[in-house]
Amino acid sequence: MRKISVLFVCLGNICRSPTAHAVFQAMVDAKGLSEQILVDSAGTGDWHLGHAPDKRTSEVAAERGYDMGNLRARLVTPADFGEYDYILGMDHENLCDLEVMRTAGYEGELGLFLDYSVKPELSNHDVVPDPYYGGDNGFALVLDLVEDASAGLLSHVVERL
Ligand code: 4NP
Repeated sequence: MRKISVLFVCLGNICRSPTAHAVFQAMVDAKGLSEQILVDSAGTGDWHLGHAPDKRTSEVAAERGYDMGNLRARLVTPADFGEYDYILGMDHENLCDLEVMRTAGYEGELGLFLDYSVKPELSNHDVVPDPYYGGDNGFALVLDLVEDASAGLLSHVVERL
């Protein structure tokens, strides 16, 4: 079996992409695929480097059984294009920033995470909205969208192993 690596990217790397990191990792682990599928997350902005996920994010995640305690924010860099088969942004701004950073010759999948979503009732969302300055409901929505797209992404990746 080959190995496949996935990098989730948002702005601060303390809300959306670490949620995707924790949820997708949990699904990978549950399928016994942690040796085959490498998961990481990063941000395009440098305000929170080295910080743990936002408390509102980790609390909502913990309510659904996801542990984010070991995650720390880092910046996405051009070197990531040499490491990751999938680099998935949470929104169009993330994707634009990644397209500017994309290295010549990158042959992986650079795209929007929610392109992998499977639930028809969530199909009105094409991006994971930034919850940072919004109300608490935004964090539960992030988790709903992330769980759905993670399931779709995992089925897709498993086909390629
Ligand atoms: P994230 O959310 O991109 O989902 O991690 C944000 C976190 C922090 C900031 C913006 C968005 N900020 O401006 O500090």
